[in-house]
Amino acid sequence: MQDLRETYLARISGAADQAALEEVRLAALGKKGEISLKMRELGKMSPEERQTVGKALNELKDELDTALRARKVAMEDAALDERLKAEWLDVTLPARHRMRGTIHPVSHVTEECTAIFADMGFAVAEGPQIETDWYNFDALNIAPEHPARQEHDTFFMHRAEGDNRPPHVLRTHTSPVQIRAMQDQGAPIRVIAPGRVYRMDMDQTHAPMFHQIEGMAIDKDISMANLKWVLEEFFTAYFGTKVKTRFRASHFPFTEPSAEVDIQCSWVNGQLRVGEGDGWLEVLGSGMMHPKVLRAGGIDPDQWQGFAFGMGIDRMAMLKYGIPDLRAFFESDLRWLRHYGFGALEAPTVHAG
Ligand code: DAH
Repeated sequence: MQDLRETYLARISGAADQAALEEVRLAALGKKGEISLKMRELGKMSPEERQTVGKALNELKDELDTALRARKVAMEDAALDERLKAEWLDVTLPARHRMRGTIHPVSHVTEECTAIFADMGFAVAEGPQIETDWYNFDALNIAPEHPARQEHDTFFMHRAEGDNRPPHVLRTHTSPVQIRAMQDQGAPIRVIAPGRVYRMDMDQTHAPMFHQIEGMAIDKDISMANLKWVLEEFFTAYFGTKVKTRFRASHFPFTEPSAEVDIQCSWVNGQLRVGEGDGWLEVLGSGMMHPKVLRAGGIDPDQWQGFAFGMGIDRMAMLKYGIPDLRAFFESDLRWLRHYGFGALEAPTVHAG
């Protein structure tokens, strides 16, 4: 018994790992372990023998069992200590540098405008940037010989020789989306269409690609008064201050009557201030939709009437955020983008909610 005890206690403390320890346990206390076999022999003994040997065996079994458990816990603790040492982390180290982009002012302002118009019940409509000349011009009552076609400095898509399909153009304005939205949704309808437009033009205030936002509302009794209210409401929300507007009679082929709209402003030490003073700044074109345009969109002009407007998004961004040069918008200069860009979490919150 004493031999057994010493042998197994030595083996337990000498076990190198959990697997070895388990082997020792099986060898001693397993079903066919040495101690278990000895227990079985108790049956052949006399009652007196059985009492002393049985008691001693039981004590030995308990002692080995306790030793096994203690050794197992010690091994687990040691393993955990090892792991904690290996996985130790210095949380005071400086964080790894992460490149963070900004939201482009055009994207931000598009969101702002969309949110304000959404609040007034306008949904967003879209159209392709490559348009047929019918959508870009004819459907908007701009006939082939109309001088507006030249004024628009249009980019035409390439046509191989002998390809006589009518030309496709890069849309020169967002107005063709009016036609597409009317065809898709019919009347009544209230939509805006922000997007890219293209004209062959390049100087401090013009880029060959820029952005417009189109607006259109058609119903039974829409009038210029609704147009004026919507626009004043928009400018006031956008600039965060009451902004007076001035409607000047103008001409667009797709509206009758037509008006160019100016907003109140002043120049203080070379800085533009919107919503104060007695200066005026032209910001958009608008009017009551021409009957021919309604008809081109599949809407009966004897039943319905509507207003439309179009304004430059880039221009709106320059006015609100004091950005001086339009060309910089599209140069992808990181210093400019970091300076004028917006954080991803500065999403517009002007809409109700
Ligand atoms: N499409 C015009 C342009 O690009 C702007 C415009 C004027 C749009 C009057 C309209 C409108 O919807 O009614 O210059």
